[in-house]
Amino acid sequence: MNRSSKNRLTEKEAFLFPGDTLFDKIGRAVCQAGCLPRKELFEAWEVARRVRRRFRGGRIVDLACGHGLTAALLLLLDNSSPKALAVDLSIPPSAEKLYRALTDSWPRLEQRVEFREASLDEVTLTPGDVVVSVHACGNLTDLVIERAAAAGARLAVLPCCHHLDEADHGGLAGWLDGPLAVDVVRANRLQQKGYRVYTQTIPASITPKNRLLMAAP
Ligand SMILES: C[S@@+](CC[C@H](N)C(=O)[O-])C[C@H]1O[C@@H](n2cnc3c(N)ncnc32)[C@H](O)[C@@H]1O
Repeated sequence: MNRSSKNRLTEKEAFLFPGDTLFDKIGRAVCQAGCLPRKELFEAWEVARRVRRRFRGGRIVDLACGHGLTAALLLLLDNSSPKALAVDLSIPPSAEKLYRALTDSWPRLEQRVEFREASLDEVTLTPGDVVVSVHACGNLTDLVIERAAAAGARLAVLPCCHHLDEADHGGLAGWLDGPLAVDVVRANRLQQKGYRVYTQTIPASITPKNRLLMAAP
C-alpha cells in the first residue's frame, strides 16, 4: 500500500485494513468517514504512538490540527489524558464526520475532543499540557514551540515547509541540508530553555517531512 497517497480513504479502501489490530480498526473507521487523505492517517498514527511512549497524562492540545485526528489518536492510545483541544484557523467541515466515525467505534472518546476554530496564538496553554502539531507550515511550527515553551508544556512537532529565507538555520546551512539545520536550531533552542529533547523520525515512505521533535521541561 502506498502510505503517502493523498487520496481520500473511503469505504472502498476498507479492505486495506482487514485485521484485528487497533490500527486496522482505526483505518476502517477513517474509511467509513470517507474524508481523510490516506497519508494523514499514517502521519497521525506514527506521531501519536511515538508521543505516547514519552508523554502520558495532561490535556492534549493539537495546534493547526486540521481534522484533529492526532488529538483523537492520542486519547485513544492512552486513556491518561482526560481531554483534548484541537485548534485550527479553519477546521474542515469533515472533521466532525471523522470524529463521529471514531466515537461510533470508541464511545469513550465522546465529548473528549473540543474543536476550536481560532488562531493558535489565541489559546492559553498550561504546564500540564501536551502540545502537538503535525505539519504546521514553516514558521507556524516556531510559533507552536514558542507558545508551548512559554507555558512550560511538553511538546511534539513534525515540522514541514521550511522557508529557508525566513527561518533561522543558525549558520549551519553550509554543512547541513537547510531544513535539517533549521530543525537542529529548534532543538538546540529548546535545550537552552532547559528542555530535554527527543529526536525521532517517522517513516520517510509516509512523508519526507518526517522529523519528529519532542521535548519536555
Ligand atoms: C498542513 S496543514 C496540517 C493539518 C494537520 N495538522 C495535519 O497534519 O493534517 C496546516 C494547518 O495549519 C492551519 N493554520 C494555519 N495558520 C494557523 C494559525 N495561525 N492557527 C491555527 N491554525 C493555523 C491551517 O488551517 C491548516 O489546517
